[in-house]
Amino acid sequence: MARLSFAAMNIAVRTATTDDATAIARVNVASWQAAYRGIVSDRFLRGVSAGARERAWRDGIFGDPSRLTLVAQRDGEVIGYCGLSTPSRDEDAGPGVAEIAAIYVHPDTWRTGAGGVLMEAALANLRDAGWRVVTLWVFEANERARGFYARYGFTLDGSRQRRPDLGRNAVEVRLRLILWATRTQAVAAT
Ligand SMILES: CC(C)(COP(=O)(O)OP(=O)(O)OC[C@H]1O[C@@H](n2cnc3c(N)ncnc32)[C@H](O)[C@@H]1OP(=O)(O)O)[C@@H](O)C(=O)NCCC(=O)NCCS
Repeated sequence: MARLSFAAMNIAVRTATTDDATAIARVNVASWQAAYRGIVSDRFLRGVSAGARERAWRDGIFGDPSRLTLVAQRDGEVIGYCGLSTPSRDEDAGPGVAEIAAIYVHPDTWRTGAGGVLMEAALANLRDAGWRVVTLWVFEANERARGFYARYGFTLDGSRQRRPDLGRNAVEVRLRLILWATRTQAVAAT
């Protein structure tokens, strides 16, 4: 996937490197604990550890050629990240389907534009690389993120899954966005 650098609203977006693993893990844990209370079980949230998340990035995700991670920085500090998987990890994904595997912004900076800058950069990157559709899984009860995704045109695709590993309220729905409409899709939409 193309490397990328993008800047807007004082927020710079660039491709992450292994040196960003600590900051990514810090954003991930803070965001999980602020966003997922009542959705993910307290027991699971208590066990979420920055060290384990950092190791997962260093040992797996950074070495995987199907994954690209973007980070958003303000004043030199990483305040959010977006992880892409090309192709999508879903078994039922057809050809040309990419996935947003993660998008997290530190809760201290929610609603200040970082998520939007990351999303715009991610979508531009996927379009430039020729991906036709992008999907993602979001907790059904995650109203904040669903409002955010709606702003970028994502809609429900009808798939739903329980995540008993994360708690009994943890139910995810899949959203999709068409990046490149084929001629038939474009005609059908008019
Ligand atoms: C979802 C998330 C990444 C959004 O990032 P953010 O930096 O807060 O988003 P932005 O400030 O760039 O918002 C961009 C636009 O999205 C929409 N939006 C953002 N948050 C919203 C909300 N809570 N409700 C409705 N719309 C929202 C708005 O249109 C907003 O533009 P505006 O502020 O000019 O009105 C962030 O809230 C987050 O990290 N949440 C916790 C983790 C999470 O749930 N990630 C998704 C996993 S599937």
